[in-house]
Amino acid sequence: MEPTARLEVAADQHHRYAVEIRSGLLRELPEQLALRFPGARLALISDSGVAPLYAQPLLAALHARGQLASLHVVAAGEASKSVEQWQRLVGQLHAAGLDRRGVVVNVGGGVACDLGGMVAATYMRGIAYANVPTTLLAQHDAAIGGKVAVNAPWAKNFLGAFHQPRHVWIDPETLRTLDRRQLAAGLAESIKVAMIGEPELLSLLERDARHLLARDSVRLGEVVGRSAAKKIELLAGDPFEHDLRRPLNLGHTFGHALETELEYEGLLHGEAVAWGLVVALEIACARGLCPAADRDRIVALLARCELPPPVAAERLHAALGRLAAIRLVRGNRLHYVLPTSATSVTIDEVASDELQAAVAAAIAQPLLRPRASAAHAG
Ligand SMILES: NC(=O)c1ccc[n+]([C@@H]2O[C@H](COP(=O)([O-])OP(=O)(O)OC[C@H]3O[C@@H](n4cnc5c(N)ncnc54)[C@H](O)[C@@H]3O)[C@@H](O)[C@H]2O)c1
Ligand SMILES: [Zn+2]
Repeated sequence: MEPTARLEVAADQHHRYAVEIRSGLLRELPEQLALRFPGARLALISDSGVAPLYAQPLLAALHARGQLASLHVVAAGEASKSVEQWQRLVGQLHAAGLDRRGVVVNVGGGVACDLGGMVAATYMRGIAYANVPTTLLAQHDAAIGGKVAVNAPWAKNFLGAFHQPRHVWIDPETLRTLDRRQLAAGLAESIKVAMIGEPELLSLLERDARHLLARDSVRLGEVVGRSAAKKIELLAGDPFEHDLRRPLNLGHTFGHALETELEYEGLLHGEAVAWGLVVALEIACARGLCPAADRDRIVALLARCELPPPVAAERLHAALGRLAAIRLVRGNRLHYVLPTSATSVTIDEVASDELQAAVAAAIAQPLLRPRASAAHAG
């Protein structure tokens, strides 16, 4: 049976939007868009990897229906989440005749969703937009929640806004064309979600890891549905993320530091998060907070998902030096999401010597060593 899910997100007290997850949904999209946004001019925003696969066929189908629509493509990759591309797109939308009733439709991964969302948030002080995410990461994370941004040269997501989408359409079949490494990176975020309180999702990931990596879209749809539902549950009541120490940040404190250390090159976000998960598990185990068996269960699952990829030990240690710059550090301690079991977390302060020891333990992790021995500089 093909999985079908329709989740509702409360954008604020007055507005809700739907997140629909269904195999084959993309084929219905021209009709769905016309129903959801009657009479609106649509501006599709995509990247050069996704446009030929999904955005161009969608544009052709929209034109065949007589729908007013244009397509705007940026180069694939994080570098397109820039002020320059934002400005270029705003100019293109204006040239295409998009007015206040126009709707931006982002077709692609987190880059297209964040960048296109930022365009929608600022164009004429904000117009409507919808997301059609095509990476695993975007399907259960980036496309939901209304955080939109572009990067500044000195920091990721430095210029951004909270601007909620009107609708999110997810077709897990699009993941069939995604490369294995991108898929694995998306699985790291699903493992994170399971760790913050979804035992069934964890079992599913353990049972199906091999099929998921082989892009079984039915099973992927189930993972997306469960992961997205958890994100929505955690966002409820806190759509503007006032509490920055929420459980969703598990693995991200060290992960972000590692991304900064590697200057966003050579390592995907989910891969950096996978390192962050291992580090968080090691801190928790050293404190006696998390049983070693639970740590090993998660690390073994990560390894089966080909995570985390090898990174040179000195870069992992150097990442610690970046923490102070990107996180609120008080008196040499910082807030950290720590596992208390394979599927529960707590938040506590962590001292820098604990972090040092945990990074060393992560590097020496026996369950990762067969892969790490093939290490090259990250
Ligand atoms: N707004 C949020 O809440 C939030 C949350 C998490 C991540 N993000 C952001 O998401 C971004 C990362 O997103 P991402 O990992 O999706 O990367 P991405 O958007 O760069 O996509 C990765 C690559 O996959 C290609 N691709 C996408 N879908 C494809 C498909 N179905 N088939 C073949 N190729 C495909 C793209 O062309 C690109 O080369 C980061 O900028 C991150 O900051 C935002
Ligand atoms: Zn993340």
